[in-house]
Amino acid sequence: MKKLLWTICLLGILFPPKFGLKVQHDGISAKNGHGMLEKKESSRSNLENYDYTKYHPIEEIYKWMSQIEERYSEVVTQHFLGMTYKARPMYYLKISEPTSTLKKIFWMDCGIHAREWITPAFCQWFVKEILQNYKTDPRISRFLRKVDFYILPVLNIDGYVYSWRKDRFWRKSRSSHNNGTCFGTDLNRNFNISWCNVGASKNCTHQTFCGTGPVSESETKAVSSFIEDKKDSILCYLTIHSYGQFILTPYSFTKTKPSNYDELIRIGQKAAKELKAKHGSNYKVGSTSDMLYFTSGNSRDWAYHIGIPFAYTFELRDNGTYKFTLPEDQIQPTCEETMAAVLSIYDDIYEREWGFNEVVFTSATMRLSVFLFFMLFF
Ligand code: ARG
Ligand code: ZN
Repeated sequence: MKKLLWTICLLGILFPPKFGLKVQHDGISAKNGHGMLEKKESSRSNLENYDYTKYHPIEEIYKWMSQIEERYSEVVTQHFLGMTYKARPMYYLKISEPTSTLKKIFWMDCGIHAREWITPAFCQWFVKEILQNYKTDPRISRFLRKVDFYILPVLNIDGYVYSWRKDRFWRKSRSSHNNGTCFGTDLNRNFNISWCNVGASKNCTHQTFCGTGPVSESETKAVSSFIEDKKDSILCYLTIHSYGQFILTPYSFTKTKPSNYDELIRIGQKAAKELKAKHGSNYKVGSTSDMLYFTSGNSRDWAYHIGIPFAYTFELRDNGTYKFTLPEDQIQPTCEETMAAVLSIYDDIYEREWGFNEVVFTSATMRLSVFLFFMLFF
């Protein structure tokens, strides 16, 4: 009897059973009729022709979002967030594996500044990478067991459209002010944090016009109320801009440092290192007020202020050669390196939140304690 127990025990140590719940998804399920399958095939082929190394007008991005939702219906859903000033719908994508456990949220938005075209391109690249790899890449499947990704590919849709149709260098939204004599609010000066105190203007003809009051714009209202609502679950807030090659922490409106500043910097520096390893790009890491300039009312400072502990602004390529008109042949390398940086940040947050549990339940120490338990009692 004793011998048998010892053998079982030793086998258990040598070939430990895997802990943790595994949920299998079989993709397109058999319950779909023939017509559904055909529709899926056609959306798939359209999606497979989508060129992630080109910039896309808003119509193509809308279409891309619907195709993504249809093609990857087992993990992606498209959700209405609100309307823009010009009554265009704002949608975000939620990437979520169906599990019974309560999950945290990693939020990312792109295109708050209209002319920063590389940023919607990155949000789309990010979604593509997650969806193409979540079944096979253990790093991504690990995230999805604990976290849902929320991605808003174009925050400032009206401005983005204007930048495509009329003025490539348009930055702001397209709301009308002073009896239709000037247009646009800088949405990244319109959030309810130290509103319009520094690095922002109350003159609606200026590039950094802060709006008529905190959260006066429909786009910032939509984002603010959604994030406010979910803030207890949101662990990470990333907002993607260009250009300048920075990973920026709070704050912009003061030199005072956030309470977890050292950790934010450490995580940011590791991300910059992973980024550089891809194509050699140099990114600087620091608070916006230290690295760039003073501004108030930006989304990242607000998100941090309401309690989201990991909040960063990315300023993507380049360093001033092409500025906002980054050539399309740089989309792929920019997205690849940014992906590495973002995943590095997510890894660090994951380790901090859940790494400990994994060590306890899968490590040699766990097996050793089971072994010792049997040794003592048998
Ligand atoms: N995206 C930036 C902003 O939010 C503009 C970047 C200009 N870059 C620079 N190095 N000044 O205003
Ligand atoms: Zn910007």
